[in-house]
Amino acid sequence: MTLLDTRPAPDAASAPTPWWDGAVVYQVYLRSFRDGDGDGIGDLRGLLSGLADIAELGCDAIWLNPCYASPQADHGYDIADYRRIDPAYGTLDDFDDVVAEAHRLGIRVLMDMVANHCSREHPWFHAALAAGPGSAERGRFHFAPGTGDRGQLPPNNWRSVFGGSAWTRVTEADGQPGEWYLHSFDPAQPDLNWRNAEVADDFRGVMRFWFDRGVDGFRIDVAHGHVKAPGLPDWPGADDGSGGHNGAMWDQPEVHGIYRDWRAIGDAYTPPKYFVGEVWVPSPTRLADYLRPDELHQAFCFELLVQPWDAGRLRAAITTGLALSDRAPAWTLSNHDVHRTVTRYGQEQVLGPVDPSDMISAARRTGPVDLAIGARRAAAAAALLLALPGTVYLYQGEELGLPEVFDLPPDARQDPIWIRSGGTQLGRDGCRVPLPWDRERSDFGFGSGTTPAWLPQPEWLGAYARAAQHGDPRSMLSLYRSLTRLRRGHFDAGAPLLWMDVDADGVLAFVRGRTLCVVNAGKTAFRVPADWAVGALVIATASSPAGTVACDSTAWYDLTSPERNR
Ligand code: GLC
Ligand code: MG
Repeated sequence: MTLLDTRPAPDAASAPTPWWDGAVVYQVYLRSFRDGDGDGIGDLRGLLSGLADIAELGCDAIWLNPCYASPQADHGYDIADYRRIDPAYGTLDDFDDVVAEAHRLGIRVLMDMVANHCSREHPWFHAALAAGPGSAERGRFHFAPGTGDRGQLPPNNWRSVFGGSAWTRVTEADGQPGEWYLHSFDPAQPDLNWRNAEVADDFRGVMRFWFDRGVDGFRIDVAHGHVKAPGLPDWPGADDGSGGHNGAMWDQPEVHGIYRDWRAIGDAYTPPKYFVGEVWVPSPTRLADYLRPDELHQAFCFELLVQPWDAGRLRAAITTGLALSDRAPAWTLSNHDVHRTVTRYGQEQVLGPVDPSDMISAARRTGPVDLAIGARRAAAAAALLLALPGTVYLYQGEELGLPEVFDLPPDARQDPIWIRSGGTQLGRDGCRVPLPWDRERSDFGFGSGTTPAWLPQPEWLGAYARAAQHGDPRSMLSLYRSLTRLRRGHFDAGAPLLWMDVDADGVLAFVRGRTLCVVNAGKTAFRVPADWAVGALVIATASSPAGTVACDSTAWYDLTSPERNR
């Protein structure tokens, strides 16, 4: 067996543990969390009324998906004014109330920084259209003449993440077709030119604006995107439309200057502000560059999220994450861009390799789902997640065990992925269906019940309502509440993860501090070896005879006397 090591992490004595090390962060997709004004759209007053539930779930922080003024072409990831709250979500006063109440409850508030692109309705884009080719106003974006004899073809072969060309042609003031502009995502989201000093300068101001209102940090949207290769060259391989990692479009060396700049801004506050990046790059070493000491504090370890339910694959992903930031990686199994865990783990598990240039597609598969198996594995996965060192991000609704909603009526779907793929890809609406709070109410307590929710809630959703799960000790919600509480008591922040050598297929096990975590993703029950010196069972996600871990379940054990094993 592996020797236990209960010594503190090497630098624990010198540097105080930052708040996010060990923390649990709850991701609020505001539009779908709770509707406070009865218009069918989740909003800040709704969130305010649900903050106590988030605190009760044992979370230390919330990450709020974008709630700035936006035409909502990509539900807030298309921002028209970075210093205003979207009227559908409330006002700046409502926002201040949320921050104040969250802080009163001991919950930090993270916002979403979307700076790769803005909205077509941003005043800068209007000004760029009006000012015409060659103007300083166009210089804030990527405008270029087309190719082909009449400029009728896009400037290069880049593909939009949401499907189709990454370029759209504009009509000039004289009514003639003119230049093209770059949009890595939807045409409603023109990419900003980060080589333009004015762009960089304005975002410094945006960041301070929210920090000064008490925001504790930012999640950075497509952090690998902001800078494009000089000259916007064609990318071999982009032409077949298969997507893939375009090395001219993503992960340019100059992006790191942006994060050094932002980090300095955040570090000037007491306590320092925090940054976590959404970074999709094809190799862990590229990801590590974003985590240099003067850049981002963390970047999501998506490596874990995209794995099938397989012990070897999960263990390898955790090892990768730990190698990136040995002390405190940012883990998550779910977010507003992927299918829910109950559904993913309830599908046939695809053990083939994940495409490094399109990792996310592994987490958006369709196909038949066994909900019972999925729920059992999702519970086991949650107990694995919450035993890991570092920061754990939980996407709203995971604590209710919600499955992905596949059966949305086609005309109700709103995701630009669905629209741009001509309905060939379902997109992300199915993990964004408004949350069920109370099964007795017509919209399951999401809003007032008079206006239908912005995405239809299927009948079966009521069975997952929060109120119904509250008093049920066997519910997913009760399990999550226990796990977050026990995480705090049993896995000290900073305690290193040490793998146990396991002589059984489908099982992974590790020790952190004085607690052992055993995950059985195999086909038979696992008997915990006598020489592991385990004491009391702390928690198990499925019942099983003493000293055994049922298949598709996770168990945590106290170690009787870790010192003995030194
Ligand atoms: C990120 C967000 C996603 C959004 C995209 C464009 O990937 O997580 O929801 O559509 O960026 O902003
Ligand atoms: Mg509302």
